[in-house]
Amino acid sequence: MVQVSFLYPSPSAIPSRLLANRWPGTSSFDSSANTSQEVTMVFFFVVSLVGAYHLALLSFSFARFILSTFLLPGVSLRKYKAVAGKGSPGAGAGAADSSWAIVTGASDGIGAEFAKQLAKKGFNVVLASRTESKLRSLASEIAASSPSVETKVVTIDFATAGAKAEKGWADLKSAAEGLDVGVLVNNVGVSHSMPVPFAETSDAEIDSIVNVNISSLLKVTKLVLPGMQKRRRGLILNLGSFAGQYPTPLLATYSGSKSFLISWSQALGAEQQGLRTGVDVVALNTYFVVSAMSKIRKSSFLVPTPKQYVSSVLGKIGNSGGAGGRPFSATLWPAHAMVDWALANLLPSEGWLLDYSFGQSLSTRKRALRKAERESKAQ
Ligand SMILES: NC(=O)c1ccc[n+]([C@@H]2O[C@H](COP(=O)([O-])OP(=O)(O)OC[C@H]3O[C@@H](n4cnc5c(N)ncnc54)[C@H](OP(=O)(O)O)[C@@H]3O)[C@@H](O)[C@H]2O)c1
Repeated sequence: MVQVSFLYPSPSAIPSRLLANRWPGTSSFDSSANTSQEVTMVFFFVVSLVGAYHLALLSFSFARFILSTFLLPGVSLRKYKAVAGKGSPGAGAGAADSSWAIVTGASDGIGAEFAKQLAKKGFNVVLASRTESKLRSLASEIAASSPSVETKVVTIDFATAGAKAEKGWADLKSAAEGLDVGVLVNNVGVSHSMPVPFAETSDAEIDSIVNVNISSLLKVTKLVLPGMQKRRRGLILNLGSFAGQYPTPLLATYSGSKSFLISWSQALGAEQQGLRTGVDVVALNTYFVVSAMSKIRKSSFLVPTPKQYVSSVLGKIGNSGGAGGRPFSATLWPAHAMVDWALANLLPSEGWLLDYSFGQSLSTRKRALRKAERESKAQ
């Protein structure tokens, strides 16, 4: 007879009727049948526990997604201003105080919209990008819609490095000098002109992506962060991409640069929180938005206009949306949040997504090559 463990009741303690029910046809205690029965029960018990644990996690994550995407309001941007109340929506459109926002890549798309909407919330705005004429016309637009807001225009090419870049950086530094910068929007970003295998990517394109998406992200932040820390107040919004959250074949350098942005934002955010500097950092996980970069001209449920996108971001600061569980990250356009939540919680394998993305990028590349060929024939 095998030694009966503490897990098992002694056979004599089990009523014979029960024994007969559990092990039909046996009148004596069969220890091997008992062991396998118990192992099966323990197995199902553990599986149920694991299942219940995952179900609880999924329910929690879903509840957090719903609350943060649809129900909870964002924090007021007054939190990042020098003078609380002045320039707030209640103070009337265009009312300004001494607080500034700096927006990189401000002349077009998402950046231009951040500049306009932050000005409407009473922030004076430093507008930085390459094209002075576009920046000046945006500054006039802001002056018309928010008369008491000041703007500064800085022409800078973030893709250049070394001596060629010195003038732009010196101009940006002197524009930001002494300003009370409450909000920094690290918006500027460039991608590949079309999906391309990494081995065929030109050195110029790689340098441009790395300089704009990584080096200038670090340099602009380094320029602004010490002042924010001194004032113990600030918000840094970093324009991330779905391509950084999930690797995108044939856009490998862009995708890697946006992965850098996520990782760096999370580390920076945790530093600021741990050191209690009062500076909030958010990596904005962004899917398609109508813009020159996305080459999408018509908005849809999944693809907002820059105006819709930025309004949803600025109204929801402090929420994670679909990026729950990823600290210092937020996916705030509701349809993007749904996709993000579903991919993070329901996708059986990221390998499937990689294969799918490869197929999508490849067909985009084929279309772009055909278009380029048509255009070259037409010339
Ligand atoms: N649109 C999307 O679907 C999407 C999706 C995910 C993430 N994002 C991210 O969102 C951000 C903004 O994208 P967007 O779609 O609004 O792009 P966009 O419409 O192409 O605008 C890019 C802005 O950056 C400026 N810029 C480009 N290269 C520059 C350089 N070398 N130096 C200085 N400024 C430069 C452009 O102005 P100038 O030409 O005057 O310099 C323009 O103001 C990017 O970081 C992007 O990665 C966009």
